[in-house]
Amino acid sequence: MTRKIVIAGNWKMNTTLEEGLQLATSIRNKTEKTTDLDIILCPPFTHLHPVSQCLENSAIQLGGQTLHMQEKGAYTGDISGTMLRQVGCAHVLIGHSEQRQYHQETNHSVREKYIAALKASLIPIVCVGESQEERESGQTFTVLETQLREGFQGIENQIQASCIIAYEPVWAIGTGLVATPQQAQEAHAFIRQTLKSITPYANEIRLLYGGSIKPDNFSQIIQQEDIDGGLIGGASLT
Ligand code: 13P
Repeated sequence: MTRKIVIAGNWKMNTTLEEGLQLATSIRNKTEKTTDLDIILCPPFTHLHPVSQCLENSAIQLGGQTLHMQEKGAYTGDISGTMLRQVGCAHVLIGHSEQRQYHQETNHSVREKYIAALKASLIPIVCVGESQEERESGQTFTVLETQLREGFQGIENQIQASCIIAYEPVWAIGTGLVATPQQAQEAHAFIRQTLKSITPYANEIRLLYGGSIKPDNFSQIIQQEDIDGGLIGGASLT
């Protein structure tokens, strides 16, 4: 099974609008002839529309960093899937560990947001991953399995081949501690195995690794059998 590699940049809450436009322009110029990768940029909400204009007629795709589970309403500070779609997003991150940590994201809300993303014709990028404590106490697989099973509970038949899952061990995010290629492959193989019991598309779904990816550690990671790309934070800003 060949799965096209995905390189996704999660800018998080970084860049001024001007810096964001410069970054998008430079990525656009440098990847003009790249056809063997899917490139996705996830800038802050306020940059989405101008960045989308800057990427017009390029193959680079745009993603939101989260969305609200409702389509509209009295939810001050939130953004709906339809709004993301209207400003040019094709994707949306769901369940990022920073949303789990700072915004009460749970496996239940991941599920609701997954449904909302599909309703808005967005491709969900669902993030899972264990904390350092969970890894050290041998719970990595249990945590991953629970995140996947609860996140997709009752909506297994809505999982599409195009949906993307990102494995981001919390201890590797922004810490400079990168999972070894073996650790990452082991977790990815487990995720794919778990997906096989949930959906017929397990072999088509692309699994991204995320956590302190840098130019010098990525080439080994991407060679692993079940790793189909990267979700990159800090290094995606340069
Ligand atoms: P870093 O690449 O900065 O570790 O961030 C990873 C991440 O959280 C991407 O979503």
